[in-house]
Amino acid sequence: MLTSRKGPAFETPGAEGDRLPDVMRDAKSCTRCDLYRNATHLVFGEGPARVKVLFVGEQPGDKEDLAGRPFIGPAGKLLDRCLEEAGIERDICYVTNAVKHFKFTPRGKRRIHAKPNAGEVQACAWWLAAELRLVKPKLAVALGATALYALLGRQAKVTRDRGTVMPSPDGPPVLVTIHPSALLRTLDRPDAERKRARFVDDLRKIAEFLE
Ligand code: URA
Repeated sequence: MLTSRKGPAFETPGAEGDRLPDVMRDAKSCTRCDLYRNATHLVFGEGPARVKVLFVGEQPGDKEDLAGRPFIGPAGKLLDRCLEEAGIERDICYVTNAVKHFKFTPRGKRRIHAKPNAGEVQACAWWLAAELRLVKPKLAVALGATALYALLGRQAKVTRDRGTVMPSPDGPPVLVTIHPSALLRTLDRPDAERKRARFVDDLRKIAEFLE
């Protein structure tokens, strides 16, 4: 059995196991923070076992929680379209989240997304560290601030570092960009197309980096 090195941004050893399906099986009974209490499924990462690029989002949304799969809802569909526009093949990508249980506030019949806190991100870094160790991507892509915190701690900022590839002391370099759900929230604004084009430009840096 392999033991991972330190976790992405934190002093977590990371889950043990030398096969992703084994780590995923162990993750399904995770109680490392309280989010498992209300979530339907733990949503582990998905993609080929060895890929070039590993995308990290924030946490599963409502649809992902119900289906138990990452990025299958509106944000994931938008990400897929933007990747296609940027010329990035989906089969070189593994997608996962900084936090693997859905955190929400109930409002009537709806479940409203709630941002995970630093403790929840740090607890879940245990699983992210194992995914990084086993998938061995050449590049990680941080989709938004929570993912960036999970990968690089407090040393990086989306507003300041967006569009750049930053070195990581203990993992693959990290391309910094926004979360696609930020685009979904501003679809009706006049600058929506410009924002989307900038996101696609960020994604083009993946191909430049891998060349
Ligand atoms: N947003 C995320 O960050 N991850 C998902 O899996 C879905 C939406």
